[in-house]
Amino acid sequence: MKVLNIGSLNIDKVYKVEHFVQAKETIKSLGYEENSGGKGLNQSVALAKAGAEVYHAGSVGKDGDMLLDVLKSAGADTSLIKRSEAPTGHAIIQVEENGQNCIIICGGANDDVTREDIDKALSGFEKGDILLLQNEISNLDYAIEKGHEKGLTVMLNPSPISDALKACRLDLVDYFILNEVEGEALTGVSAEDPEGVLGGLKKTFPNAGFVLTLGENGAVFAKGDEKAAHGIYKVKAVDTTAAGDTFCGFFIAGMTKGWDKDKLIKYASAASGIAVSRPGAAPSVPTLAEVEAFIADRG
Ligand code: RIB
Repeated sequence: MKVLNIGSLNIDKVYKVEHFVQAKETIKSLGYEENSGGKGLNQSVALAKAGAEVYHAGSVGKDGDMLLDVLKSAGADTSLIKRSEAPTGHAIIQVEENGQNCIIICGGANDDVTREDIDKALSGFEKGDILLLQNEISNLDYAIEKGHEKGLTVMLNPSPISDALKACRLDLVDYFILNEVEGEALTGVSAEDPEGVLGGLKKTFPNAGFVLTLGENGAVFAKGDEKAAHGIYKVKAVDTTAAGDTFCGFFIAGMTKGWDKDKLIKYASAASGIAVSRPGAAPSVPTLAEVEAFIADRG
């Protein structure tokens, strides 16, 4: 089972700050780093490091070599990534001492993923393969519809939430991997009530499966009558960026290997815990061997 991830590739410009900048305020950063990122790239890196066969499709500018190198060295196929005339997408990320972040993305080449690019990428995949998508590329609606039409298992991380995303044929999505805030946006049920969010999701999308991450409260998997839950692994939070992406990549990689639901959610939780304890987005993603060692130690 192959995974095609049509997703964003960003250069992350990361500023360490005492607190997030407020309106009318100027603050001095405590440190600066440039990293590889983008929800799409981070998830492909996690998939590859977890041992899945992953093909990343998307678009970078002339300045995107570093991102291709990161994907290749993780073990992801990059032959479906196009060179755009637009500059590579980037993100401006503030990270506080406690590891919390806030992010602004600037689409750049990610907004130059055309219908033709999507058709070309999909041509090498068939029923039984997985199509993974997030909401950081252009023509997401087309990708969902075409992926479904070809019989691929369509898995969506509906992030960031936008009106354009809500207007997509979300009824064609087979699995949603999302956090409670995204769950609230899709159901209207308060994120404070995770059971209610899950109920709302099931009601709105009766045929889909859900992986709902709940921050400090862990994560839940639900599909039909099947359910599994896992708490978080407590770590010293350094940078939460890409924790959700790591979770997503390990969960899907486990699916391609036929892991049962309990193992899926446990390994994804452990991988995401390790990512939180490290700085950066893609650079924080652990290998499968690191996750196994972590679980052997922590249970
Ligand atoms: O999920 C984290 C990612 O969101 C960052 O790497 C940033 O590029 C944005 O896409």
